[in-house]
Amino acid sequence: MSTRRLIVDVDTGIDDSLALLYLLASPEAEIVGIASTSGNVPSAQVAANNLNWLGVCDAPDIEVALGAHAPLVAPLRTTEDTHGPQGVGYAVLPDAGRVLSGRNAATMWAELVRARPGEITGLVTGPLTNLALAIREEPELPRLLRRLVVMGGAFNHPGNTTPTAEWNVSVDPEAAKEVFDAFSGLPEGRRPVLCGLDVTETIEMKPHHVRRLAREAGSTPAEIISPDDGPEVRSTASNQVIRHMSDAIRFYMDFHRTHDQGFLAHMHDPFAAAVALNPGLARTRPATVDVELHGRLTRGTTVADWVGHWNRDPNVDIAVSTDPVVFFDDLIDRVGRFAKSVG
Ligand code: BDR
Ligand code: CA
Repeated sequence: MSTRRLIVDVDTGIDDSLALLYLLASPEAEIVGIASTSGNVPSAQVAANNLNWLGVCDAPDIEVALGAHAPLVAPLRTTEDTHGPQGVGYAVLPDAGRVLSGRNAATMWAELVRARPGEITGLVTGPLTNLALAIREEPELPRLLRRLVVMGGAFNHPGNTTPTAEWNVSVDPEAAKEVFDAFSGLPEGRRPVLCGLDVTETIEMKPHHVRRLAREAGSTPAEIISPDDGPEVRSTASNQVIRHMSDAIRFYMDFHRTHDQGFLAHMHDPFAAAVALNPGLARTRPATVDVELHGRLTRGTTVADWVGHWNRDPNVDIAVSTDPVVFFDDLIDRVGRFAKSVG
């Protein structure tokens, strides 16, 4: 099994949390740095969540860097109603007592990629602010990276933030445009993979997935989460990873339920994490993607040219389909086994 070195750039976030757990649980993944980006919650809270998840998982001392407080141009918007007051739903993670990196997230990106040219896969599951800043610091970054995988955009699909825009791009459209432009001109096989809502909204986590995960981890009692649980209810799982994860996910399911999507949660970010380790998980199509910056109604919309209207070469591969059952079996197997080993 060959090692996949990763920089993970997150706005943790409930689904970001599960993406982190998935990677920590994956023996072939070596996380060399975690960048904390403002998005779901402000970057300082994101950084605290990242450090505390590492603590809950008894993980090695992985570098966690603080990112910019606000997007490149727009004022910061956060979404505690989606992810909970601290970004981890109903969970309250114990303070790990771990310390932040002395360098900021953009510098960490640039320096890590420079030190290991061609080796690192970048995974971004939040706004692209820090990656854009890193590219300003190291313009060769797109060519120094082995591959970039991004959760972001909505292509032949409605948005989740405006009728046409997806959250990560909508929070910092200028950053997304800078990144997609900077990654133009790469050959097939090196183009960024975009996991947009078209596919990530097919990744529906349901209570039976959480129950299976807990069972795999050997956690007791059976982990049964229900839409009838009030906001005061907390998991009593014997396994600490399962306990915090379940409290986080139940909040996300409540959010989806109150938005008429059912008692389930779209696991956007764990899917992108799985694609970063195994690109074959998603069927992709090349396209040229640009970001609308000015539309009164459409700012932050990702526009994909699939057929060459713009006479510009494809700059990304867009995930167009996957098998959610394969994804969930893999997630449950990995995270369940990992949680069991942590206890
Ligand atoms: C994205 O927005 C965030 O709220 C999630 O963490 C995910 O990265 C989905 O649009
Ligand atoms: Ca996210």
